[in-house]
Amino acid sequence: MRKPLIAGNWKLHKTLNEARDLASSLAENLADVEAVEIVVAPVFTALTTVAAEIKSSPVKLAAQNCYPEETGAFTGEVSPLLLKDAGCEYIIIGHSERRQLMGETDHFINQKLIKVLEAGLKPILCIGETLQERETDQMLEVLTTQVKDGLANLSATHMANVVIAYEPVWAIGTGKTASNEQAQEAHSFIRGLLQGVFTPEVALSTRILYGGSVKPNNVDGLMAQDDIDGALVGGASLKAEDFIRLVRFEK
Ligand code: PGA
Repeated sequence: MRKPLIAGNWKLHKTLNEARDLASSLAENLADVEAVEIVVAPVFTALTTVAAEIKSSPVKLAAQNCYPEETGAFTGEVSPLLLKDAGCEYIIIGHSERRQLMGETDHFINQKLIKVLEAGLKPILCIGETLQERETDQMLEVLTTQVKDGLANLSATHMANVVIAYEPVWAIGTGKTASNEQAQEAHSFIRGLLQGVFTPEVALSTRILYGGSVKPNNVDGLMAQDDIDGALVGGASLKAEDFIRLVRFEK
């Protein structure tokens, strides 16, 4: 019922030439994949270059961020509408690096989410606790706030286009993955929240990705968990060989 989704977040990496090479290698080597949805999120400047490379392949395009306005006097910002125009189908929203480095709040993230949906695009909403929050038993409270405030004012119908990514901040870029059990526990908790906020159907049909040091050597165990529907991948999405192996996870 929930099609697995493997998404590569390239973050602030890759020149145009490097992005073109990686995209073309993925398009070529993943051409036969039907059972898994594949998404890559390059930097803004590489979006149209990557879009051209993946055009006739199953690989889809995402942006890493957006601003919650269509057009106007917002120097330096990019809107969901323009990202759609550049070929995006998805937009990553509220990544922990943006929450931490740019001070993004749940309210601001919610505004973006609504604009992304209004533009006909699909948001990937990132949530997750820090190490300190986990160690001081605040994890469930943090996840609850991020889900409730991040998804405020959305209907069950909107949720058909929303993907959630659970990314414990302590596991991002650190090489420390959550254990399969830790990840499954958090995912199941988040699914329970969706049931409370929306409906049992929404809880059952919403895809929840895991993110945080997903690598070829741990993807299979994570993907075998009942409530893990895919992965949002940083480091291992930068090498074609690794990302291909992630898309071709074995259950
Ligand atoms: P990582 O990044 O795979 O390098 O830990 C994940 C992410 O930030 O989405």
